Amino acid sequence: MLFGDVVGSMKLAATLDPERLQEIMHALFNKSAAIVQRYGGTVDKFTGDGLMALFGAPVALEDHALRACIAGLEIQEATAELADEVRRRDGIELKMRVGLNSGEVIAGEIGRGPGRYTAVGHPVGMAQRMESGARPGAVLCAESTARLVDGIVELGPAQYIDVKGQSEQVRGHEVVAIALDQAIVGRDEGPMLGRAAELEKLLEVFASGDAAIVGVVGEPGVGKSRLIREVASRAAEVDADAVIARCDAHTTNVPLWALTRLLRAMFAVGRQEPSAARAQVIDRLPASIGMESDEANILFELLGISESDTTRVELSLDARRRRLIDTLTAATQFRPLPTLFILEDVHWIDAASEATLAEFAANLSATRSTLLVSYRPEYRGPLREHRDVSITLAPLPDRVTAEITTGLTGNDASLSGIVELIAGSAAGNPFFVEEMVRDLVDRGVLVGSRGGYRRESDIDKIAVPTTVQTVLAARIDRLPPQAKSALNAASVIGSTFDLDVVRALLPNTDRADLADLVSVELVDQIEFLPRPRYCFRHPLVRKVAYETQLTATRATTHRRLADAIQEVNPAAIEDNAALIGTHLEAAGDFEAAHSWHMRAAKRLETRDMVAARTSWERARRIADRLSEDYPGVLAMRAAPRAMLAWTDWLVGADPDADTCHQELRALTAQSGDVLSLAMGIAGRMTALCTNYGKPGEAVASAADLTNMVDDIDADAMLKVDLLFTVMWAQFLVCDYAALFQTAERIRAIAGTGVNSSVARATAVCGVSRIVTGDTEHGQRELRLGIEQARQTDAVTFAAVMSLKCALAPVGLEPPDAATLADAREALRRAEAVGDNFATACALWACGSMLLRLDGGSTDTGVEYLKSARDIITKHRTVVVALAPIEADLAILTARLGDRDDAIETMRTVIGRQLTNFDVTFMGVTIPVLIQLLVDRGRPDDLAEATVMVQGMETQAAQLNLRAMTFCAAFCKTVIAETDSAKSAAMSEYREAAERVGARGDILLLRPV
Ligand SMILES: Nc1ncnc2c1ncn2[C@@H]1O[C@H](COP(=O)(O)OP(=O)(O)OP(=O)(O)O)[C@@H](O)[C@H]1O
Ligand SMILES: [Mg+2]
Repeated sequence: MLFGDVVGSMKLAATLDPERLQEIMHALFNKSAAIVQRYGGTVDKFTGDGLMALFGAPVALEDHALRACIAGLEIQEATAELADEVRRRDGIELKMRVGLNSGEVIAGEIGRGPGRYTAVGHPVGMAQRMESGARPGAVLCAESTARLVDGIVELGPAQYIDVKGQSEQVRGHEVVAIALDQAIVGRDEGPMLGRAAELEKLLEVFASGDAAIVGVVGEPGVGKSRLIREVASRAAEVDADAVIARCDAHTTNVPLWALTRLLRAMFAVGRQEPSAARAQVIDRLPASIGMESDEANILFELLGISESDTTRVELSLDARRRRLIDTLTAATQFRPLPTLFILEDVHWIDAASEATLAEFAANLSATRSTLLVSYRPEYRGPLREHRDVSITLAPLPDRVTAEITTGLTGNDASLSGIVELIAGSAAGNPFFVEEMVRDLVDRGVLVGSRGGYRRESDIDKIAVPTTVQTVLAARIDRLPPQAKSALNAASVIGSTFDLDVVRALLPNTDRADLADLVSVELVDQIEFLPRPRYCFRHPLVRKVAYETQLTATRATTHRRLADAIQEVNPAAIEDNAALIGTHLEAAGDFEAAHSWHMRAAKRLETRDMVAARTSWERARRIADRLSEDYPGVLAMRAAPRAMLAWTDWLVGADPDADTCHQELRALTAQSGDVLSLAMGIAGRMTALCTNYGKPGEAVASAADLTNMVDDIDADAMLKVDLLFTVMWAQFLVCDYAALFQTAERIRAIAGTGVNSSVARATAVCGVSRIVTGDTEHGQRELRLGIEQARQTDAVTFAAVMSLKCALAPVGLEPPDAATLADAREALRRAEAVGDNFATACALWACGSMLLRLDGGSTDTGVEYLKSARDIITKHRTVVVALAPIEADLAILTARLGDRDDAIETMRTVIGRQLTNFDVTFMGVTIPVLIQLLVDRGRPDDLAEATVMVQGMETQAAQLNLRAMTFCAAFCKTVIAETDSAKSAAMSEYREAAERVGARGDILLLRPV
């Protein structure tokens, strides 16, 4: 029950002349009545200066209370619009009060005309009281209504109203806003037919709580979303909660779009003020995650509700990602019920969301919650690959299609032939059926109302289109021009759109135009006030509306939209950069689109590498589409490629990296852009060394890159970074002579400056001197490098400590407690920033120290080494450490009795080292295999060991590696069979140790 009344009507009547007064009142009531009607209400009567409307009678509407709230707010909005005009023309204030109440009313037909239904009874009186208690311009609802709309409508605090003639006050609440990003006024849908088995299966899967990812696959319009809506509405039956979001056709290249939608749904972030939204998010997180925590801030950033002046969270990319996933998992566990996360249309998901969600879903098995995704058959990706259950929706059988058709048309005798015609063409696609029926109604072939149509024209003259697209195109074509333009503009915006934004594109658009679209069921309204928002009823409607426009019109709309996005929300321009880029791209404005994608990547670079790379990738594609003679095209093509190559090692598995690199070479050869080329080469070299364990391949570019650094116009520290890449590859292939030259250049360029590369270069240089026998000098330099690294950052410190600790396994340095303490500090710091590379380095350093140090805990050491190995294999980083880690673990495996296994492992490891020319740690791996073989002592074992040592000696001589000569000498003491051979080998070994300055021991399989 809704009651509306004009404030101070007596005064109005006294001031205005009667004609004008009537004009205003008519306008007001016409508008109000239209609103009431739009929401399925009935205007019960006009009372001179007020109106009374009923929702739920005579037609029972389940969501009557909600509809009344929406209508109340919209009436106030319409009044405010009218009041502007009245103020200008008549200099007088026009305001309304609206009151709402819910309850049983007696509605009967009394009298005739507009006031045909008249409600009487106590609830009517209560609505009137609410009206009289309302603030002018506001909507006040009684407790009974508030209860029905709780959680959907934003209500103000309780207010107490005096009731005439009663001592007791009554409670009311002001209706503030209705803004949840979901369909809240029910669709007028027929029953779902023919999918009972699929529905049962899904509910069963969720009830079991066993499946992490469930997929629903099917052609467009076959009924995926319908099935999912049904499942969601029945989630409560299996004691679950549903959280729903969807991907959008035009945001496949907008990084993190889909994830953000799902998170907004999960935390019910709508249009609240950011501070309110933050409080709400915190409320839905376990108490351990406070407002100031990194975890909360990472979430706020993603949701776009961070406090604008907070500094960015200082965490490594790996840590951000891990914490996000852990936070989401914790938030899921914290929810009162297991959750059914629903992500629709993942054939349109963006890469960064896909990667994060796949990882998150892997955690869901522990929570009884499930991720349900829907997609069309063409989708390939991790969310499909890793699904535990999948449901394929086939076209519906003819019988069911016919039943759906009859459900829509009814079965009036005049319809014979028509139902068959529709069902026959639809080929089991229910959406096609619905659209054909709507089309026939639009064309006047069918008259009547849903479920009760009659045929009006000759059956032979009825043409049925062959595809659902043609039906839609015809229906759209028949719209009134304003509504059609609005629909077309909306299709450019996306699957959901705000009235505001449509107006920014088409200033003359009226709410009524959109109401037209709603009434012909092309769009649904999903939010009402303060900002109306709509969505396309079906993705195909949007697609057809989009594709049937003139290309030029569409391009103009995209361009205007790119501007509108900036104007509507200037604070979020950076967040929207990729979206703006996407629209400019569609507008054909490639140069601007390119620069927006580059801008998006720049922002994402410190937040999510997969996301940043999506944007560079997009920029690259755009530049490639430009003609060869477009001004500046070479630079536009090179810039994103350089960044993709430069950051490749951070993701570590881009299958496209090689091609990208080749293209970059070709482009920069043409343009002479040496800096981009140098960054590209350096990035490629780092990836080859760090992720692929192929330093031999990397070092092939060393000379090229070194020469380029001279020609680059870049800051000294960037040059140092580039040169350190060279140095590192040289180190890994043991080309010390070249390495010392590179070190010289680094020192010359850096001067007194210190950055991560300088610290690493100092340490690498020190280690190289130690390995080549210049022990004291080397140790001094290494100590300096460690101190520089300690001051630099966690990643550098861990990297340098792992170098220092790697001297122990080759026997060059004895393990010591101070080094272990430093390694532990490195581990602490690495874990604090959460970087995978640094953590793997530090775990390796600590683990190998613990195994070798007297009184060190072997168990902890093994645990560390295994953790390091897991990180390395999972994230493909610090691959160089894999060989020495495997070697240490093999020794322990053998000590525990599984020698054969250890031998097999070491053979594989050494084979890989040889193939990739990954010689750095052969001095660790070969002595281990040889000890294992000799220990087993089969004749061919000894032969194998002997051959291997000979090979090692040859290589040591070729590379002039004293450290390796020393390791070979150690191996010979192991192989020597007789006592005299043993003592000869021993003295050779001691000499070698002397020459190289070795002060430690190689880890013995059987310690004596
Ligand atoms: N089993 C059914 N019984 C009755 N109507 C159905 C059934 N399945 C779907 N429909 C109707 O058909 C229309 C299209 O279905 P739906 O939107 O679920 O398709 P979809 O598979 O999600 O398509 P898309 O891939 O384009 O998103 C909807 O309006 C829906 O109400
Ligand atoms: Mg769908």
